Amino acid sequence: MRGVEHFLVAFALLTLVSKLASASDPSPLQDFCVALNDPKYGLFVNGKFCKDPKLVTADDFFLAGINIPGNTSNAVGSIVTPFFVDKFPALNTLGVSLARIDFAPYGGLNPPHTHPRASEVLFLQEGTLLVGFVTSNQDGNRLFTKVLNQGDLFVFPIGLIHFQLNIGNTPAVAISSLSSQFPEVITIANSLFGSKPLINPDVLAEAFMLDKTVVQNLESKF
Ligand SMILES: *[C@@H]1O[C@H](CO)[C@@H](O)[C@H](O)[C@H]1NC(C)=O
Repeated sequence: MRGVEHFLVAFALLTLVSKLASASDPSPLQDFCVALNDPKYGLFVNGKFCKDPKLVTADDFFLAGINIPGNTSNAVGSIVTPFFVDKFPALNTLGVSLARIDFAPYGGLNPPHTHPRASEVLFLQEGTLLVGFVTSNQDGNRLFTKVLNQGDLFVFPIGLIHFQLNIGNTPAVAISSLSSQFPEVITIANSLFGSKPLINPDVLAEAFMLDKTVVQNLESKF
């Protein structure tokens, strides 16, 4: 390669590395940027309009209700109540958010899922959970798992597939903090077996080493 080509390759690699190094939400460009749906009095920064700082009050930073239990009467026996930027505009550009997770007694499951934009720290406020995450292919798909009791913390690194199962005989309640204003959720089973339109069953049968009728049965349930 000629010198200039070496330079271009080095530059491209450097750009890639710096992009990887800043894969989470961008740092705020100001003290705060309370989100505003009506752009009339707003500035446009990092994807959401900022409320005019002169009009911001303490109430913009306040939100009640994380103490209210969610209804776990559903197929998996758990419910996530997110407090992301869409519900809590003060989080805009700050790179943090919260979620409350309620679990029905024995068997309530927050099924395997991933947050493409956030690491998560879970605080177990009440109950007993079996939690875990699986590392990447490069790392050998290792399972890190643990039983959590009241007051315990557990970290789920960004992007990795993780789950929480209530193994206690009482309801469980967890509060998670996430390193994004909008971490997004990809639930593995729903994504693969409940996509719209459905993925060709041949793809999933081969990928999961399942009979095609089993795949079709799974697809009919999502
Ligand atoms: C919880 O959800 C179930 C199923 O949708 C419903 O029948 C029940 O009334 C709900 N319970 C409460 C307390 O809202």
